Amino acid sequence: MGPMGRLKYMEKIIDLVNKHNEWRRSCINLIASENTMSPICEKLYTSDLMHRYAEGLPFQRYYKGLKYVDEIEDLTEKEFKKHFNINFVDIRPTSGTLANYAVFSSLAKPGETIMSLGIDGGSHISHEKGGAIGMLKYEIEHVVYNPENLEIDVQKTGEKILEKKPKFIILGGSVLLFPQPLKEIKEYCSEVQTKMVYDAAHVFGLITCGKFQNPFEEGADIITSSTHKTFPGPQGGIILANLDDEKLKTKIQNRVFPGFVSNHHLHRVPCLYAALREMQEFGEEYTSQILKNSKALALKLNELGFDVIGKSKGYTESHQVLLNVRKQGGGKIVADKLEDQNIILNKNIIPHDNTSDPDNPNGIRIGVQEMTRFGMKEKDMEQVAHFIFNIIIENKDVKNKVIEFRNNFKNIKFVF
Ligand SMILES: Cc1ncc(COP(=O)(O)O)c(C=O)c1O
Repeated sequence: MGPMGRLKYMEKIIDLVNKHNEWRRSCINLIASENTMSPICEKLYTSDLMHRYAEGLPFQRYYKGLKYVDEIEDLTEKEFKKHFNINFVDIRPTSGTLANYAVFSSLAKPGETIMSLGIDGGSHISHEKGGAIGMLKYEIEHVVYNPENLEIDVQKTGEKILEKKPKFIILGGSVLLFPQPLKEIKEYCSEVQTKMVYDAAHVFGLITCGKFQNPFEEGADIITSSTHKTFPGPQGGIILANLDDEKLKTKIQNRVFPGFVSNHHLHRVPCLYAALREMQEFGEEYTSQILKNSKALALKLNELGFDVIGKSKGYTESHQVLLNVRKQGGGKIVADKLEDQNIILNKNIIPHDNTSDPDNPNGIRIGVQEMTRFGMKEKDMEQVAHFIFNIIIENKDVKNKVIEFRNNFKNIKFVF
């Protein structure tokens, strides 16, 4: 093939990326697990660090050429330790799932019993049989969750902990509308040396700014997280803890490398630092607005006749809103219809759903963190609810109006 032919390949791929960029910036993105990095973070992301290797910990590397990388990583780790007042952080997992793998496999051996929440209670697949927990071949006991009031049954769960003595319990999760009773569960854990791990992937940004329960203050031994949901950093994972047990710290570090990553994608690291600094500076205002927005959206959707889950508890205390859309055809149909009209969100399992059929759940999960970052406020959330009503209940074509509306929110706020 000649040079012109080869160029065609490039044109094709560049065109597809450009189309993606253009399309997603003309959509109202309500996916609860995403965000957009700030311009400074994006700039830091594309540097020579993208091309380099570093194995091990700062100043103790196998590779050469890392004198600045060591400083960058050291600075980032120190800032996280200071911010959360902790003595252990590992920023090397390249995803939240890998952070979970590293921590889980440090706390229990195959065949041992662990406890997790269950998908219908909002846990992540990595906490379940189909994901990390299953791959690590643990015996899984489930937390006793009441789908009626969306609450963990502390007493029944506690009794199970005392009886089964799991090596660890994993809380937090992917559908996390309200804080969980960590303190109460910790009392049972302490009796049988069960470690409490909190997966903060979704609410990490809120926790960073003191706007959700503080898992450390409430008894969590270890926090695992992604760094790109309500925390608007680069895609990746993180492990945070306050541990006296030096052996356990080393074990976790060794599971991360050489266990689950070799090169830990160095270009993420300065962005992680910058995102934390942004949250220290602007996060109070940003996360307060997230909470106001999710509430406003839930209230309006309820007023428009949608079945918003959690009504008796005030709908939400996080960035998420959960809808039961069974009457409107189920989560898949609703999410497809919205995508056609440039509103992007996910179908989701909701309490009472059949968890063995994750492709056809009755719910959709909405997250307001990204649109909040682009400057949407409560009134704008009401407009978003109206669009959802127009599309799902009235079957109207409002795509052009959605695009026009989204065009008012071009720039990312809460950044340097
Ligand atoms: C609670 C929870 N943990 C872990 C993950 C996985 O994170 P990652 O996609 O970074 O592997 C997710 C993903 O959405 C999540 O919701």
